[in-house]
Amino acid sequence: MTTLLNDTAGNKKSGRGQGTHAGAEVLAIRGGRPLHGTIEVKGAKNLVTKAMVAALLGETPSTLRDVPELSDVAVVRSLLEVHGVTVTDGDEPGSLVLDPSGAASAHFEEIDAHAGASRIPILFCGPLLHLLGEALIPDLGGCRIGDRPINFHMDALRAFGAIVDKSYEGIRITAPDGLHGANIELPYPSVGATEQVLLTAVKAKGVTELKNAAIEPEIMDLIAVLQKMGAIISYEPNRVILIEGVESLRGYDHRSIFDRNEAVSWACAALATDGEIFVQGAKQQDLLTFLNVFRKAGGWFDVREDGILFRRGGSIKPVVVETDVHPGYMTDWQQPLIVALTQAEGESTVHETVYENRLGFTQALVKMGADIVVHPHGLEGGQRRVPRRALEQAAVINGPTPLTGAEIEVPDLRGGFSYVVAALAAQGESRVSGVGIISRGYEKFFDKLTALGADFDVVG
Ligand code: EPU
Repeated sequence: MTTLLNDTAGNKKSGRGQGTHAGAEVLAIRGGRPLHGTIEVKGAKNLVTKAMVAALLGETPSTLRDVPELSDVAVVRSLLEVHGVTVTDGDEPGSLVLDPSGAASAHFEEIDAHAGASRIPILFCGPLLHLLGEALIPDLGGCRIGDRPINFHMDALRAFGAIVDKSYEGIRITAPDGLHGANIELPYPSVGATEQVLLTAVKAKGVTELKNAAIEPEIMDLIAVLQKMGAIISYEPNRVILIEGVESLRGYDHRSIFDRNEAVSWACAALATDGEIFVQGAKQQDLLTFLNVFRKAGGWFDVREDGILFRRGGSIKPVVVETDVHPGYMTDWQQPLIVALTQAEGESTVHETVYENRLGFTQALVKMGADIVVHPHGLEGGQRRVPRRALEQAAVINGPTPLTGAEIEVPDLRGGFSYVVAALAAQGESRVSGVGIISRGYEKFFDKLTALGADFDVVG
């Protein structure tokens, strides 16, 4: 099995120089230094991993371009390989060729070795059912950001005619009579469940109507991938997607949408550290909602043909933000923004409405001097865009408060990135442990920090 490693360049263990940082877990970061420079964002983690799974549906090899070197990509690659898919490098750097012609059932032990590593394996269900009539899914991983149920996925698979059994091995799903089109309405526009339906419906017999679907740009890009493969999918108004099942699909050649979450993270890093970062590969069209909030928060940006330049436009201003499914402000974008809002002049509020525990990361910011109060059951009142949800929480951030270095431990992917940004914005030295998690979603993270002039050492 080939494993993609993050941050492989260089050979010194020094932060401001280059470094070989594979396996690094602890950083000593000296803050108070604005980040300046250019970084490039490649394909989106949250499309690439799904498009890799889609390759299982084709009868010929697929080529995926702009694949970032991330541990989540390595997990999906490995899981494809244990199912007999051959994965090789393509004709340009960052491209992968995925050949499913040898696809076959995998042994329980091989599948189980991937337990807890990523949430993507749940998306293998539909393609494996079409290919082999059964799927065995390991216990899932992903960020610890609250309970992450899979009931929408399982209900959708049952609607297609699948039988779901939970056993000591994980979840075993079978479809002895094949899969047929279904009318499905999601209780919430879940990204993963929408992808589950798409990857299953494209080869199910008959028509599938999916109501209350997620419509994130990464979903639209997955639809584009599937259409290249021969699928017939139409997007109707009001979150309705219609899929006409076809007998067979072929491989695709596709360049992934850029990683919007990474682009937003670096934009917020420029705002928080009072630096200037050109995010090469970022596109305005897919970031409209973020750019509005960034501007209201005092950020300045310049949209160019090959990317977007981000910096402060003056002082940071307080804002009220509600996270939401697309086209709202994404839940993955609140963590780095909150770091910047600790430096805003006044009171900001961030309502987290997508996940039930995605504000816990703010505790470490408080330790560093931030004034943040989390309301675990959300806040009433105010002008709302997103209907109030039972699971929501709110953070009230009062600024500006100087941040000072501290010992902090990364809780999850997006929270982890924001800790590093907080440490870079703070006075003095911080020790950030658990930074390995960040490589799940940020390609060449340490190399990029180095390129932007961050002052850090790998100390563990
Ligand atoms: N939900 C259920 N039941 C389900 C599925 C989801 O109740 O069966 C709930 C979740 O608990 C949550 C909400 O629905 O409250 C939305 O979850 P969704 O299914 O949309 O999230 P996901 O597909 O598991 C993806 C991204 C996340 C991103 C969310 C929201 C991937 C691999 N992950 O997760 O990305 O935050 O959509 O946009 O695509 C990240 O990249 O750091 C990350 C966590």
